[in-house]
Amino acid sequence: MINKDTKQKLSGLTVLLHWLVGLVIITLTVIGVYMSENEVFALYPIHKSIGVLIFTVIVIRVYWRFVNGWLQPAANYTKIEHNLSKIVHWVLIIAMIVMPISGFIMSGTGGHGVSVFGLEIVAANFDLVAKKAIAYNAALAGFMHSTHVNSGWVMIIAIFLHLMGAIKHHFMDKDSTLKRMFGKRI
Ligand code: HEM
Ligand code: HEM
Repeated sequence: MINKDTKQKLSGLTVLLHWLVGLVIITLTVIGVYMSENEVFALYPIHKSIGVLIFTVIVIRVYWRFVNGWLQPAANYTKIEHNLSKIVHWVLIIAMIVMPISGFIMSGTGGHGVSVFGLEIVAANFDLVAKKAIAYNAALAGFMHSTHVNSGWVMIIAIFLHLMGAIKHHFMDKDSTLKRMFGKRI
């Protein structure tokens, strides 16, 4: 399973990490936008817990990508297409690191606390009389909040372009790009 990626066949680890991290990130994004737009506070601890846990897998995923190198394209395309896919892959890799870190620092320094399914990582700082969180560092919490929200939208656009690319390769070019990401030898 821990073979290196080749043009003909991707490593089982690449395939597993791509789909595990990709699907969890899509889920977190849907929960994140829904809970903050509608102020569904019950979802916040779930979003944070999954976000912290998946970060450990993301670290392995990104490490594996760089020791293993970027994937060779499954077929030959124009320079513009190669460059566009490179840019989108870089944005996705950077976003999958920035999102959990900014979320963690925003919640931690904002006084809201961070727990993983009840296990406390950073203590909350609640004012029981005023019934609100008191920030440990309001400026940093504010900066990390805008980083989480803005990077979130950049990531959503990148995921959309990425998905369009996968659909184009599979249905229009009819090449093996998508099949290869499911572990098929091409
Ligand atoms: C359901 C949605 C998705 C589909 C259909 C999909 C499909 C693919 C395919 C076919 C490739 C191979 C591209 C190539 O051969 O050059 C790929 C690579 C990649 N995908 Fe996705 N993907 C999806 C979701 C995501 C998400 C949500 C992320 C991250 C947030 C992501 C991050 C990446 C990255 C960074 C690569 C570059 C290769 C690597 O690092 O493994 N993908 N994806
Ligand atoms: C890969 C991991 C993560 C992804 C993809 C992600 C994604 C998102 C997205 C898209 C939003 C909606 C932003 C908006 O438009 O308002 C959001 C909100 C939020 N996220 Fe995350 N997140 C991740 C990890 C985390 C972590 C680790 C924490 C904290 C420990 C966290 C805490 C929050 C909070 C508190 C909000 C609500 C912000 C508000 O009410 O304005 N996130 N997240």
